[in-house]
Formats: sequence, structure tokens, C-alpha cells
Amino acid sequence: MERTFVIIKPDALRRKLIGEIITRIERRNFSIVAMKMLTPSKELAEQHYVVHKGKEFFDPLVQFVMSGPVVAMVVEGENAIKLMRNTMGATSPEQAAPGTIRGDLTISLQENLIHGSDSLDTANMEIDLWFPELKG
Ligand code: RTP
Ligand code: MG
Repeated sequence: MERTFVIIKPDALRRKLIGEIITRIERRNFSIVAMKMLTPSKELAEQHYVVHKGKEFFDPLVQFVMSGPVVAMVVEGENAIKLMRNTMGATSPEQAAPGTIRGDLTISLQENLIHGSDSLDTANMEIDLWFPELKG
């Protein structure tokens, strides 16, 4: 079993798509093993996207992700990191395939509804960052 970290982003809450997105995650038979709603602080948002620090989209990205409540989750399943990325769809709206969350529900590069960890290392770092209470 593998664990990945998922954020349902503020645009999804504004658009009332929490249920739609969780339904898609559950229908794929992933298990949600931890979940909470919060409005991220600037520190949390910057730390989460630290890999993008220095890029021209970093500041708008941080402002966006802290612009309202998000739902943060730990999602578990076999090969969960890779398969959750497939369920999300590609970052670019031109590449996001129909049938994926992004490909079906958004046309925006920034307001793209969902985050999922992109590797085992980042999954572990992100789970520790957002769910320090789970640290064993
Ligand atoms: P995320 O980290 O949010 O799950 O998204 P991702 O892996 O699909 O994409 P990533 O490369 O990590 O980029 C993080 C977020 O930054 C915005 N972005 N803008 N203007 C641009 O070229 C650009 N590239 C990325 C997107 O909102 C992306 O979700
Ligand atoms: Mg990413």
C-alpha cells in the first residue's frame, strides 16, 4: 500500500465540487485515511510549493492556494501516487484528458481544482507538513 497527499483547492470549494472530486477518488477505490478542511497560512502554502520558488508563477500560486479553505487528504492504495496523478489529469488544460478531474471539470492552468504528490519523497514530505499529528 502506498500513501499520497491530495489537496482539493479553493476553486473547487468555491465551485461546490468537493463531493464530485471525493466521489471520483472513492470510485477508483482509493481509501481516504485522513482528511481536514483549513485555510492554509502563507508559510504553509510557500513551504508546500517550495520546489517552485523563484519561478514567475510562484507568488500567484501561493496567493491562490491560500485564498480560501481547502480540503487536505491522505489517500491510500496500491501505486496511489502515480494513479492519483492519472485520476487528476495533466497540469496543462490542453493535455488534461477527458475522464480526468481536470480534463472534465476545468479549463484553467491555475484554478485546476486538485493537487497530488508527484513522487514518494514529496508525498512523505507533504504528509509530514500538512498532517504533523500523524507522525509516528
Ligand atoms: P500541483 O503541484 O498543484 O498538484 O500541480 P502539478 O503537479 O500538476 O503542477 P506543478 O508543475 O507542480 O505546478 C504547480 C501549480 O503551479 C501552476 N503552474 N503554473 N504558469 C505556468 O507555467 C505554471 N506551471 C504550473 C499550476 O496551477 C500548477 O497546478
Ligand atoms: Mg506539483
